[in-house]
Amino acid sequence: MRRVAVTDGMAQEAVKKLEQAGCEVVQDFIEHDVLVAGALADFDAIIVRSATKITEEMLNKSQPRLKVVARAGVGVDNIDIRAASELGVPVVNAPRASTQSVVELTIGHLLGSLRFIPRADRSLRSGEWAKKELKGTELFGKRLGLIGFGRIAQGVARVAQAFGMEVHSYDPYLPLSVAKKADVTMHKNVDNLFKTCTHISIHCNLTEETHHLINKKRIEMMPGVDPFNLKCGNHIVNCARGGIVDEDAAFAALKSGQLSSLALDVFEHEPVDASSPLLQHQNFHGTPHIGAATIEAQRRVGLDIVDAVLAVLNGGMAETTVNRKDIV
Ligand code: MLT
Repeated sequence: MRRVAVTDGMAQEAVKKLEQAGCEVVQDFIEHDVLVAGALADFDAIIVRSATKITEEMLNKSQPRLKVVARAGVGVDNIDIRAASELGVPVVNAPRASTQSVVELTIGHLLGSLRFIPRADRSLRSGEWAKKELKGTELFGKRLGLIGFGRIAQGVARVAQAFGMEVHSYDPYLPLSVAKKADVTMHKNVDNLFKTCTHISIHCNLTEETHHLINKKRIEMMPGVDPFNLKCGNHIVNCARGGIVDEDAAFAALKSGQLSSLALDVFEHEPVDASSPLLQHQNFHGTPHIGAATIEAQRRVGLDIVDAVLAVLNGGMAETTVNRKDIV
């Protein structure tokens, strides 16, 4: 019988689908040390989210049994893809399932930041009625800069346009025609995006190129005034990956007022340290990496990843194999 380890949880409907396909499903978090000691050698497939890291050492001890490593989500930065490729093990993910949920959280953070929703709630609970102090700004007429213009950014662009925002983007990997069709202004230089937009939202992967892409120099480029010369401040949202925003630089910019709000769902080190000064700043809004944490997304993620795992276990190639080209 094929054995599948599900270490970081998965929707029950998806677990059932694996069982109906004749797999024994072991649903349990496996400690790092146990994986390093060779636990993967007892499984045909492993399905992880972000809590379990799959390293070269673990993969080297997984053969000949392990056929596929599956990431129930989008980001595969917790899996050593090079090591898996060298062993000929496909790494599969579920890139489409959480798109709508992340779009909605991004818009939620934008609205929450501009209208001080979390701050207003804290103030109300502490007995204040801070109606005069909590004067926000509208999304309407503002320039939104999207870093990356993949599925999630395109979804954010559609909603932002419905609010009357003017949408700009920077994505060196995408054909210009995609932006044109979406009525989005594409910039060839990322600095121009910062010089143009008062609102920035991140929708790219964390790579060497994007590490600390949002830093002191670029935050200082942001104009702080909208196209009608209204002082709307500068606002940044990151629901993509931690490490793209230099958190120290962003905190300094919040303190100086160059940044009016910062909303992060993802952090350079997760879970974020409770003593981080960011958490004390009233114009910082944070959520604990919950972009894909909806009932709908988790159901879709589970069903999509099970399809991918079964495709491999049945001798085929999953459509969402991320190391397709590199498997030796
Ligand atoms: C993903 O990569 O799918 C998201 O960041 C969600 C997650 O890791 O839970």
